[in-house]
Amino acid sequence: MKITAFGVNKEEKYYFEKLAQTKNFELVQTPEWVTADNIELAAGSDAISTMQTGAYDEPLFKKMADLQIPLLALRNVGTDNIDFAAARKYNIQISNVPSYSPATIAEFVVMTMLRLLRKTKKMDRAIEAGQLVSAQKMTGRTLRDETVGVIGTGHIGFTTAELLHNMGAKIIAFDAFPKKDAPDWLQYVDSLEDLLKQVSLVTLHVPGLKENDHLLNADRLALLPQDAIVVNTGRGNLIDTDALIAELQMKRLAGAGIDTFEYEADIEREIQSGEQPQESHYLALQEMDNVIITPHIAYHSMKAVENMVGISVDNIFSYVEQGTTINPVK
Ligand code: NAD
Ligand code: COI
Repeated sequence: MKITAFGVNKEEKYYFEKLAQTKNFELVQTPEWVTADNIELAAGSDAISTMQTGAYDEPLFKKMADLQIPLLALRNVGTDNIDFAAARKYNIQISNVPSYSPATIAEFVVMTMLRLLRKTKKMDRAIEAGQLVSAQKMTGRTLRDETVGVIGTGHIGFTTAELLHNMGAKIIAFDAFPKKDAPDWLQYVDSLEDLLKQVSLVTLHVPGLKENDHLLNADRLALLPQDAIVVNTGRGNLIDTDALIAELQMKRLAGAGIDTFEYEADIEREIQSGEQPQESHYLALQEMDNVIITPHIAYHSMKAVENMVGISVDNIFSYVEQGTTINPVK
């Protein structure tokens, strides 16, 4: 069996090489993201393993069909960047890793919330500038006195809610399909609007599908109480960034934590071509003391990497040996 893995970073390389030895498959690895222009590297492979936030589009699937590579095995959760109609047209199967370490993202959310509640960006900037900030200018808020709105209570949302509950926060949740076996402390409301009116912190854990575009738009952000904080580790398109910036500039919101950013593809392009990021929304947010931007890294821990690589390889083995993947995505 031959697997070509694209977008492989240093940590992943270690696990891929270990698995290639123990499971005995031929491995080709490259740090490059897969596109129609470099897929030829995978000629003769049974599948490609890949992970990226850029597009998986028709030209890529057409070339995969030409090269007779039937499977694109994602190492990640999100599938919002896949042109499924094109995949179907060329009969390319897709699998993902629906859960690799929800705790990795959940802990990142809690960290971001604590940093925002205790204004650490303002403090770090002052200290870097050789200044001391008086405690009075740094008055914080305690998580256990907050009411957190969790939007989406799937793998990551539920784990995040559980951590926050264990730290003493009150949890209010909204999901299109509420958990049937929800614990007592997980209080669901019937609408997103109801949730937004009642919470002081909100965290997003729904997929970035087209129908979730700007789930938090200007009207909905305006429902949040004064000094609420918004955290997004879901997908960039879930928030109308212009509306978010307006709320922050009006000082209606006390802060925002953005790991998944609406214009992250633009920033990535700029950085990859060796430029400083110039994207205007990014610059506006980055300038603010009460906004923490992270470059889509909530997912990245050693445990997560091990599972992402291992489960994507399991999917490929299952496809080759039994004709179906364990985690097909339609
Ligand atoms: P999941 O599929 O387990 O849960 C998603 C939940 O959202 C489901 O319960 C679903 O019913 C609900 N939902 C979908 N649309 C909704 C809507 N409009 N309103 C209310 N509920 C809705 O997904 P997950 O594993 O918890 O992951 C959540 C998202 O986190 C992923 O889709 C992915 O985009 C993102 N993610 C980000 C990172 C990162 O590094 N920042 C890492 C992994 C996943
Ligand atoms: C996901 O698993 O969906 C992520 O957001 C991680 C990213 C590397 C694509």
